[in-house]
Amino acid sequence: MQNFTYWNPTKLIFGKGQLVHLKEEVPKYGRKVLLIYGGGSIKKSGLYAQVINLLQEIKADIFELSGVEPNPRISTVRKGVDICKSEGIEFILAVGGGSVIDCTKAIAAGAKYDGDAWELVTKKAVAHEALPFGTVLTLAATGSEMNSGSVITNWETNEKYGWGSAVTFPTFSILDPVHTYTVPKEQTIYGIVDMMSHVFEHYFHLQENTLLQDRMCESLLITVMETAPQLLADLENYDLRATILYNGTMALNGMLSMGYQGDWATHNIEHAVSAVYDIPHGGGLAILFPNWMKHNLKVKPERFKQLAVRVFGVDPEGKSAEEAVLEGIEKLRQFWNSIGAPSRLADYDIDDSKLELMADKAMINGEFGRFKKLNRDDVLAIYRASL
Ligand code: NZQ
Ligand code: ZN
Repeated sequence: MQNFTYWNPTKLIFGKGQLVHLKEEVPKYGRKVLLIYGGGSIKKSGLYAQVINLLQEIKADIFELSGVEPNPRISTVRKGVDICKSEGIEFILAVGGGSVIDCTKAIAAGAKYDGDAWELVTKKAVAHEALPFGTVLTLAATGSEMNSGSVITNWETNEKYGWGSAVTFPTFSILDPVHTYTVPKEQTIYGIVDMMSHVFEHYFHLQENTLLQDRMCESLLITVMETAPQLLADLENYDLRATILYNGTMALNGMLSMGYQGDWATHNIEHAVSAVYDIPHGGGLAILFPNWMKHNLKVKPERFKQLAVRVFGVDPEGKSAEEAVLEGIEKLRQFWNSIGAPSRLADYDIDDSKLELMADKAMINGEFGRFKKLNRDDVLAIYRASL
């Protein structure tokens, strides 16, 4: 285990009816509020009206930015930055899924930066300051509600990057499982794949002595796998939604990854796919992750075997390490198939015509992956295996 400092300033407000806490949280930061949301799901569900009522009760001066895209775009970030600067916005409230929250993070930092926000996303500049922002999460998936990460796409150049800074943690996040009842089955599946993939990204690391971290990762995976099929058959079940929502936050708020750094190559490979084809992040991960695993299983077979045995119930008796590992990977694929996740790029009509382009996008900052550094040939091999 490496030395570490854990710091997470986000106040998590979890459970039924917690939206009302907006009334005490928002005024701490200001009266001029920019409300940011996506393509309209919050209007259909009634959440928009509830948020507006609460903001009106505290006499907030409300500005709005709507239409944040899934895979949020820098063009939308720029619109938000303009509103913040021209209207003197004091606080931003993000109401939506990871895309709305990620977009809000870039707007919050961009509002306090003199140059173009894309410079922050591409790490040409560092965000030292940001407007305070809070979130009302409506979709269990990314963990963005309790981390500082943000993933932004430049649709003109087909680039999609993750970035973050100590100033881009939400000040508070309100998580009411009821707000996730309306998430369609397909998006619920993507969220489940995404949170499981975050755990896999952590799990594949080269540190020794991470006994507790391993067990925490494994228990999160087991809990998600037990809960997911029940939830998908009963989308408005409070307890099941709550379990999945809490798992999503825990998978990427830093709690699982103290004392080591995970791999994170598969996310980079997936971001290059969704930068070119605009597919859902969780769908891309479901296709790619088992193939990343197969490509790298010889790096540290005992880690793969531990996962296969402890999480996927593989009986190692009479099997070589490689056989046990492959069986574990196959069980992961079967599980994702069983809940309805995609398994091939062809499921999104992606053929081999742009593999080279995607590999170029993935390699833009050179070789990547902490468990196993991938070069361009590795990336292409994983894409080809995923066709
Ligand atoms: O836009 P609206 O109308 O709100 O609809 C959204 C959107 O179409 C809909 N939705 C959200 N909540 C809903 C709902 N529909 C009905 N009822 C609700 N309660 O779901 C669709 C997808 O939303 P989105 O926010 O895009 O999904 P998600 O939360 O999975 O976020 C995906 C984005 O996050 C990035 C991904 O790359 C992708 O751009 N990631 C961010 C991370 C982070 N910040 O830490 C880490 C992740 O690994 C990931 O890369
Ligand atoms: Zn993810």
